[in-house]
Amino acid sequence: MPYEFILTETRGRVALIRLNRSKQMNALNPKLMQELGQALDGYDADDGVGAIVITGNEKAFAAGADIAVMQNYSFMDVYKSNYITRDWEHIRNIRKPVIAAVAGYALGGGCELAMMCDIVIAAESAKFGQPEINLGTFPGAGGTQRLPRAVGKAKAMDLCLSARMMDAAEAERSGLVSRVVPSDKLMDEALAVAEKIASYSLPVAMMVKEAVNRAYETTLSEGVHFERRMFHATFGLDDQKEGMAAFVEKRKPVFKHR
Ligand code: HXC
Repeated sequence: MPYEFILTETRGRVALIRLNRSKQMNALNPKLMQELGQALDGYDADDGVGAIVITGNEKAFAAGADIAVMQNYSFMDVYKSNYITRDWEHIRNIRKPVIAAVAGYALGGGCELAMMCDIVIAAESAKFGQPEINLGTFPGAGGTQRLPRAVGKAKAMDLCLSARMMDAAEAERSGLVSRVVPSDKLMDEALAVAEKIASYSLPVAMMVKEAVNRAYETTLSEGVHFERRMFHATFGLDDQKEGMAAFVEKRKPVFKHR
């Protein structure tokens, strides 16, 4: 499907979505977010896809929600249209692993979009921040909730209240990103990680995602209970039989994703 503000392609079992408003630093306008949601939904439903990578360009993953679009919105405009909830929440319902490959600026809604992904891989050039306070507003796509969960209260308060940016090294030290790689290796690395994930049993990868996400939503005992039930469920999969047989027979498993 041709999109206006994103580019999409598949490479084997990996889907790649590139945010494509480079002149505006990939500022996230409603149409872009609708397109992103459509593409994500399509890949989530596609049996041939096992993992999804979202990226921007070398200057910006995304410099936030589109300020020019937002500037004249009234309270009634955003409240009645359910701004953000309407177009930004698709990604939360995606069940396959989603990787953010971040180079350059990931600010405001861009940082929030990265945090909605399951793994964030950063180029050395990456800069993360929640600078909305500069604009007389504050993070509205989960930043005040996901950032403290990722980096702790002290740094989350610092970033949201001072608007300072965090570089890739600090983001890795703080737990916001899982790996930092040289800028020219970002896409190779992100696609390799996605390919690796997509080579495993898809239902198991989906269960891992579901179980880890539970850690944010519930108590430890409920989370462990959920994990145990999902673990038991893997014994109903052909892929568990194949994976364990392959180990015992000293060969590579051939997963059928069921
Ligand atoms: C609209 C944006 C934009 C944005 C950049 N541009 N960010 N347009 N919305 N969020 C546009 C600029 O206006 C400019 O357009 C072009 O992209 C290039 O940007 P420059 O500022 O000229 O580049 P540079 O000097 O390199 O600075 C890069 C930057 C800066 C540090 C990223 O652009 C910046 O501070 N952007 C805003 C970051 C921000 O405040 N983000 C939070 C947004 S609020 P022209 O036409 O002049 O070339 C938000 C709310 C979240 O995200 C709540 C819910 C999602």
